[in-house]
Amino acid sequence: MLENLEKIRQQFQEELKAVNSKDELEKIRVAYLGKKGLVTEALKNLRNLSNEEKKTAGMQVNSLKNEIEAAIVEHQKVIEEKEYQREIENAEKYDFTIPSNREPGTLHPITIVQKKIEDIFKTMGFIIEDGLEIQTEYNNFEAVNIPKNHPARDMQDTYYLENGQLLKTHTSAAQNTIMRKYGPPKKGEPLKVLFPGRCFRNENIDASHENTFFQLEGMMIGEDISISNLIYFMKVLLSEVFERDVKVRLRPGFFPFVEPGFELDINCAICGGSGCPTCKNSGWLELLPCGMIHPNVLAMGGIDPDRYIGFAFGLGLTRLAMMKYNIKDIRLFNSGNLKLLKQFTR
Ligand code: FA5
Repeated sequence: MLENLEKIRQQFQEELKAVNSKDELEKIRVAYLGKKGLVTEALKNLRNLSNEEKKTAGMQVNSLKNEIEAAIVEHQKVIEEKEYQREIENAEKYDFTIPSNREPGTLHPITIVQKKIEDIFKTMGFIIEDGLEIQTEYNNFEAVNIPKNHPARDMQDTYYLENGQLLKTHTSAAQNTIMRKYGPPKKGEPLKVLFPGRCFRNENIDASHENTFFQLEGMMIGEDISISNLIYFMKVLLSEVFERDVKVRLRPGFFPFVEPGFELDINCAICGGSGCPTCKNSGWLELLPCGMIHPNVLAMGGIDPDRYIGFAFGLGLTRLAMMKYNIKDIRLFNSGNLKLLKQFTR
């Protein structure tokens, strides 16, 4: 019996050397460890031995079985490594040193205008902040004085998530978080923050309305801020962006989060004011609503409205880019039309 086991061991080792694939390995496993395999047969034959012989032979057969099992596992790893190497050798080869004939990318026109405004405001001491795109209802509405069931919510319908949060409808959604982050300003050091961001609305799309567009919001809070400060910053912004005279008009506007509130419209650059689809034939485009921050909004932001006052504006950044570059239709911005998009560099 023991001699026979030694023969099986040697035979297995010889045969294993010639095995080069997983299929062959499976065949050899069946030949030795399968139901009718040599080792299994040896185990069955133990019953023909005396109790004394059974003890020693049993240990030997089990040890051979374990040895063969371990050798098969090891051999499988070797085969897998060889297969992997073969795959690498046969894979398609690329020469990463060949120069590309693709043109380099350019900044999107909205990004160019955004960066320009950020640079202007940074020189005037503004901090640049980044608001979240997914917001709580509280930040988007309640914290800017638009309570539940307020009719102003209808103007800014949006996309809600299952957890009750929403895609922000305006950059004003970040006002509360920013006020809480920086706290009440120190004497003589007003809080000046600029926060651009992507906004979303369930909108009837046309030449000047998209469901996804950019705004750029600014806020200044201190002890003696006035409407004159607001108008000054608006003028600087527009003259620096357009690098030419642009006609604007300021009219009263209602937003629950400012008091008083204004609408700053820009003379339509597409038609020069005579009327076109972009300005809905009015000659003017709503661009820059603004106003003095409502006391309730300051209070909700943890800033004492009896001591502090501030202004906020919510620039329509996408529309500003349209006016700057004479782009007639807002839908072109998200169209992926490279011929159009790559022509703007400054
Ligand atoms: C607001 O969103 C206010 N949060 C702005 C604000 C901030 C007012 C701070 C006062 C103080 P409004 O819904 O008007 O307001 O949007 C502001 C600007 O975003 C508009 O003037 C317009 O230029 C742009 N805008 C609004 N909706 C769209 C749209 N669907 N597509 C493209 N631009 C839009």
